[in-house]
Amino acid sequence: MPFTIAIDGPAASGKGTIARALASEFGFAHLDTGLLYRAVGAKGGDPVATAQGLEPEDLLRDDLRSAEAGQAASRVASIPEVRAALLAFQRKFARTEPGAVLDGRDIGTVICPEAEVKLYVVANYETRAARRAAELGADPAEMLAQIRERDARDAVRDVAPMKQADDAVLIDTSHLSIEEAVAKAVATVRTRLAR
Ligand code: DC
Repeated sequence: MPFTIAIDGPAASGKGTIARALASEFGFAHLDTGLLYRAVGAKGGDPVATAQGLEPEDLLRDDLRSAEAGQAASRVASIPEVRAALLAFQRKFARTEPGAVLDGRDIGTVICPEAEVKLYVVANYETRAARRAAELGADPAEMLAQIRERDARDAVRDVAPMKQADDAVLIDTSHLSIEEAVAKAVATVRTRLAR
């Protein structure tokens, strides 16, 4: 049986870094599910039709990491039919042998409720804004405003809102180095693998 690691949390909390590190540590496949929503938002047109016809090469556009793509992703992500169109691909990916790491907002709650390990990664607003500003070469105050807007939209939407699953382990990376955050996540996975 494949082993699934579900990682959720808000923008710039460190979940992507942890997801990549876990995939490399355990030899698992990794899917950044935010990229699916970013690709739908960036491609334009009717979001539902775009999501239904999404092609692998749509995920390779180099403008998907921008703040604008993040905002567009957050908007199309509130459309139930868009989420439904992306569900089967994510579930299939989660069954990759010998294991898969998926990071997003609703992995532990909706996409993979049976995941062997669930992590919910958070950090305070100032830390997240500073990280995103450094990553994108942008103004921290502007990043803070955008992150607050995106969090609010992602957390209050009716379908699959961003939320910690009851059985998810919380990791707050506000005062942790990347190495410390990854070590916590690796330890959590090892404990579960040893069972
Ligand atoms: O993780 P990210 O910043 O790349 O995600 C971009 C947007 O996509 C995020 O604001 C909300 C949406 N998203 C989602 O609704 N569900 C997911 N599993 C992943 C992302």
